[in-house]
Amino acid sequence: MQKDEIVRLLADEENEADLLKRADEVRRQNVGDAVHLRGLIEFSNICRNNCLYCGIRRGNRKVARYHMQPEELIETARKAADMGFKTVVLQSGEDMFYTAERMCHIIEAIKKFDVAVTLSIGERSYEDYKSFREAGADRYLMRIETTDKDLYHKLDPNMSWQQRYECLLMIRELGYELGSGIMVGLPEQTIESIADDLLFLRDLDVDMAGIGPFIPHPETPLAHEKGGMLHLALRTMAVMRLLMPDINIPATTAMESLHPQGRLMALQGGANVVMPNVTEGEYRRLYELYPGKICVNDTPVHCRSCIGMKIMSIGRTIGEGYGGHQKRR
Ligand code: SAM
Ligand code: FES
Repeated sequence: MQKDEIVRLLADEENEADLLKRADEVRRQNVGDAVHLRGLIEFSNICRNNCLYCGIRRGNRKVARYHMQPEELIETARKAADMGFKTVVLQSGEDMFYTAERMCHIIEAIKKFDVAVTLSIGERSYEDYKSFREAGADRYLMRIETTDKDLYHKLDPNMSWQQRYECLLMIRELGYELGSGIMVGLPEQTIESIADDLLFLRDLDVDMAGIGPFIPHPETPLAHEKGGMLHLALRTMAVMRLLMPDINIPATTAMESLHPQGRLMALQGGANVVMPNVTEGEYRRLYELYPGKICVNDTPVHCRSCIGMKIMSIGRTIGEGYGGHQKRR
């Protein structure tokens, strides 16, 4: 698919239902009806970065900061494995308390629970990525956010687009399954630039692509921006499925935060993965990337059964096994 065709599909609000239907069919033919669940643990909201869009940016003084201790994190992962999750995703801000040594200890302990381990802890050195991989980490998730470099540098001050890209290349080279993705509806982002993002993810040959709508957070410099573009995000996700028929595509939490059926809409428009939150207690509320985040007052058990019922209600099944990317190309 060429860029002009992608732009046309993204802009075509009228025929969105047809696009999502087409993506749903491509999903069914290539990855089947199983929806893979990943237990998401938000283990630290401490971050050295100051991204303008993010609720846990360094400059937000209003958020109470926490990080789980390693043993608490391991215990949370054990409970997720006991609940039947075959993948745990360890996500945090860029919190340097988690040295390579601490992370490796955690990964090794969690691998004993017979789960795939996905890391989503941002930019680190090659040596760190290598040691995490050797400790047993299977996958790494880091969104490029946007491929418009000027926009990236405006939104992520003191960060370098090139460096983030190079991190993604290192992660791939080290043999992780690579997940990346973007936000849709950022200020100044154009449809053309979203089309470039999709082609970038295809050329990077990602194993997983997460596409979420940007939702403005009141305690950030972007508080008064528009955001909330659920439908454009759904169309973007659907085109991603057409471009990469066999990869894993999550129905993102941000979609459901904008609409009570957001994840089901995504699952019926190309998505085949859901990442229920298995973080416990207060931490859920404190990991507030954007306002209106779903499930902040729920428990892991509640979320697991809620999403299970939702998936079954649309005639889909829960994936068994680790649910990694099975390349069909
Ligand atoms: N620090 C890690 C990293 O940079 O990859 C992982 C944590 S980061 C908070 C996870 C993702 O949240 C980001 O990649 C970004 O796309 C998303 N995010 C942050 N703020 C958001 C917002 N206001 N609306 C929607 N998504 C947001
Ligand atoms: Fe948490 Fe539905 S997934 S309540």
